[in-house]
Amino acid sequence: MAVTGSEKHIKLSLEAANEGMVLLKNEEGLLPLAKGTKVAIFGTAQFDYVRGGGGSGDVTTAYTRNIYEGFKMMEKDGRVEVFEPLSQFFKENVEKQQKKKVGNGRTVQPKVTKKMMGDAAKFADVAILTICRFSWEGADRKGEAHDGDFYLSVEEEALKDAILEKFDKVIVVLDVGGMVDSCWFKKEAKIQSVLMAWQAGIEGGQAIAQTICGISNPSGRLVDTFADSFGAYPSSAHFNDSISYVDYTEDIYVGYRYFETFTAKKKHVNYPFGFGLSYTTFETEVKEVILPESHKAGDGAEISVKVCIKNTGKLAGKEVTAIYYEAPNGKLFKPARQLAAFAKSSLLKPGKSEEITMTFKVSQMASFDDLGKVKKSCYVLEKGEYKFYVGANVQTAAPVEKIYTLKSNVIEEKLSSLVTPHKLKKRLLGDGSYEKLPTDKTPVSGQTCKIKEWECPTGATLSKDMKLVAANKLKDVEDGKITMKDFVKKLPVEVLIEMLGGQPNVGVSNTFGMGNCPAYGIPNVTTADGPAGLRITPDKEVYTTAWPIATMLACTWNTELVRKVGEAGAKEVKENKIGVWLTPAMNIHRSPLCGRNFEYYSEDPFMAGKMGAAMILGIQSQKIACSMKHFACNNKEVDRRICDSRVSERALREIYLKGFEIAVKEADPWTIMTCYNPLNGKYPSQNKELLEGILRKEWGFKGMITTDWWNSVDHPSEVKAGNDLKMAIGEPLRVKEAYDKGEVTRKEIEACVTRMLNTILKLDKKVR
Ligand code: BGC
Repeated sequence: MAVTGSEKHIKLSLEAANEGMVLLKNEEGLLPLAKGTKVAIFGTAQFDYVRGGGGSGDVTTAYTRNIYEGFKMMEKDGRVEVFEPLSQFFKENVEKQQKKKVGNGRTVQPKVTKKMMGDAAKFADVAILTICRFSWEGADRKGEAHDGDFYLSVEEEALKDAILEKFDKVIVVLDVGGMVDSCWFKKEAKIQSVLMAWQAGIEGGQAIAQTICGISNPSGRLVDTFADSFGAYPSSAHFNDSISYVDYTEDIYVGYRYFETFTAKKKHVNYPFGFGLSYTTFETEVKEVILPESHKAGDGAEISVKVCIKNTGKLAGKEVTAIYYEAPNGKLFKPARQLAAFAKSSLLKPGKSEEITMTFKVSQMASFDDLGKVKKSCYVLEKGEYKFYVGANVQTAAPVEKIYTLKSNVIEEKLSSLVTPHKLKKRLLGDGSYEKLPTDKTPVSGQTCKIKEWECPTGATLSKDMKLVAANKLKDVEDGKITMKDFVKKLPVEVLIEMLGGQPNVGVSNTFGMGNCPAYGIPNVTTADGPAGLRITPDKEVYTTAWPIATMLACTWNTELVRKVGEAGAKEVKENKIGVWLTPAMNIHRSPLCGRNFEYYSEDPFMAGKMGAAMILGIQSQKIACSMKHFACNNKEVDRRICDSRVSERALREIYLKGFEIAVKEADPWTIMTCYNPLNGKYPSQNKELLEGILRKEWGFKGMITTDWWNSVDHPSEVKAGNDLKMAIGEPLRVKEAYDKGEVTRKEIEACVTRMLNTILKLDKKVR
């Protein structure tokens, strides 16, 4: 049975959308709306609904359920009555703007006449103000007053004010892909309810209406801090300092780690990490805390906390629980809170309770000592008291009585100094001071931070006129007739080199393939984008399921649900004969402005890692490869091909690489994609320290590494670094030249091809 865009998948998308809704405000129990409530829906977003972001994170679907349609579905059941003339006014206006080619999510709020306002107020009990935002790959968002992005536009502000003049009960629905200003509704008494509805996929409009009408009880919790201004985020001041670099001076103090550690900053938090209301109430009681009696490096000792969650309210609902730890400040400062584990309850009926045990390793609380204050290049657990807090919301999580005490320092893991910064001059410490970092002028080896002159794309031309006589086919490797090593050894170097680059599209794919040497029985396995769904271009007329954006999936705090989304998405990929799904995207929400935040999970690396791992397990259960991306520090879109992310080793290890590390260790991703941007002066696709040193050696990554598509790095240097495949196409002539000169060896080339062929063999036969 066909699964692509099927009813079953759309139902799952709707379920995920409902579960990721975050209720930010609900005064006097306005929501869920009483049956038969008369509503006046304001804002172009009710028709210009944004179900996801643009660029490679876009999806082609058969339809999108907008917010207006969602409420009309509710109207059929008598749950609400919609003030039709107002909605029709916005509909016509949106159509007019769309005719003028105003893109999705960018329509401007029209002025509503006094008469229409008066009629709406006469008809309706409540006003619903819908606001949408759109962001996309290749561009960043804005963070200035009245920008219509982080902040309200002048027109939105005027519409809001006009509504507040006439209505005492206002609901705001935010159809957005990332952090936005929340002051305007937090402070306003007449805005009683606010739903952070994210960009919720194909049935987003229905999920919004179902939540507002109480068919679904919101159980999403924020995975980012909503601060009181753009400027309040520590990365804001220098986000756009230079086109050629960005200094991560806030170091490990990203998101709530910053706001919780520096107590004076706490007041700038409008809605903290983990925040979210429900239509019911819960009580969470800590039942048992088990701490290990002793801990030695590498013994895997665990801490576990058993909680009992009880629904003490009147409606069925789900609750999130989490453990945050506070490690002692010693020679290294530590953030005041760090997420250690989390879980979600099942749907609890009123009066019902559930026991949940959350477990994590003691070693998870170690810090990376990059400068050798305790022991250089090691993960260390400093002596002292480790405290725990239970609750989803980082600010209200309650302290646990039992404290874990380490009498002496533990050197948890000895690593090496890798991917060091050369130009980052200082970083923030936990006492608010800045520490100078060693810088040097030694040029970093390899191609640094400049776009290579664009050369004519060179496809597979080396073996065109060769007569290829194959004694063995790839299938012989699978059948055990020949080892992979011997098979690869027999391939002419020209063939090997060609396979280091992407191959032409076949079928419905648009992001190119890999392999493609029929003479040796090597199929052309194609790739396709994620993360919000299988992306096939509209001309192919294949309509797939658009899932809620990654941030919204993370807001479910439900890894099992995310695993199911991964599995369902991969089934669509397989049905369309594609082998690699270019998802999950795992970068960190360092700043609200990153144009691709919607594709990424969270400001917290543990959350990103857990969600990514769940997604990968779901995808690969279908024998479809994931592609974890963009490795690493692609936290900005503008100038992404040249802008060097300058980061300390500690922040790299604890924040920016951590999510990838968790996913590698828990889910064994078959492929990973390096990023466009340089990192500490060098492109990750040509950085052996990162790819061989950290990814393969330290973490045990066994899969294949690809570049990001059409990146700007010299191909031979990537082969040398162990970046196996250059996408979307390679530079065979250039690699051959380097090979002939002895700059790249056959051994290095074989290693890359071997990993690529091993990946192909892991895939379902339907896609190869
Ligand atoms: C994006 C990747 C994407 C690739 C293929 C690149 O521009 O950065 O995330 O997978 O294109 O479309």
